Amino acid sequence: MKAIWQLDLPDVAATETFAQSFAHCAQPPLVVLLSGDLGAGKTTWARAVLRAWGWAGTVRSPTYTLLETYDATAIGPVHHLDLYRLRTPEELEDLGLADLWPTPAVWFIEWPTQGAGHLPPADLTLDWVHKTSGRQVRLMATSEMGERLLAQWAPTLKQWGAAQTCQANEESSLSE
Ligand SMILES: Nc1ncnc2c1ncn2[C@@H]1O[C@H](COP(=O)(O)OP(=O)(O)O)[C@@H](O)[C@H]1O
Ligand SMILES: [Mg+2]
Repeated sequence: MKAIWQLDLPDVAATETFAQSFAHCAQPPLVVLLSGDLGAGKTTWARAVLRAWGWAGTVRSPTYTLLETYDATAIGPVHHLDLYRLRTPEELEDLGLADLWPTPAVWFIEWPTQGAGHLPPADLTLDWVHKTSGRQVRLMATSEMGERLLAQWAPTLKQWGAAQTCQANEESSLSE
């Protein structure tokens, strides 16, 4: 059984506060998959995390470049991928990702299913869902490191009213 946390984020400010608390708990190496529809808030969250780690420059959505890399003062390299426009997973090789994997870094990967089989094993999946007003995020650990991070984060998530549910299957399809 896998624990899933569900947290309601009624507005952008809530998403930013959630991002700041993640920034406080997380450290490299870490691979975070960001799934969910267009406009669900994946890039907004990644931008707020980078800000919390001291990145003062622009954070563009990697929609067209596919990959943007930042050297965040507090944490080191952060690679932000958006695979929405990827035509074949093999295109990831052209981006030189394989050269980047070995260096400890934080990875934020939007539309991870597009790169299935060509991505590093994920530690955490954040699944973003549109709600009538605001968003909901579902958090799942997909590695031991992800479990430890969620355990450390749990008191804060509970304080915000996050609910914990369970999923019967062991593996998230997104981590394949
Ligand atoms: N919790 C939230 N409640 C309401 N609007 C949000 C929330 N989080 C983000 N948004 C807004 O929704 C949009 C999300 O865009 P973006 O982050 O680019 O989405 P994605 O990367 O998932 O395609 C932005 O306009 C942002 O201001
Ligand atoms: Mg995006």
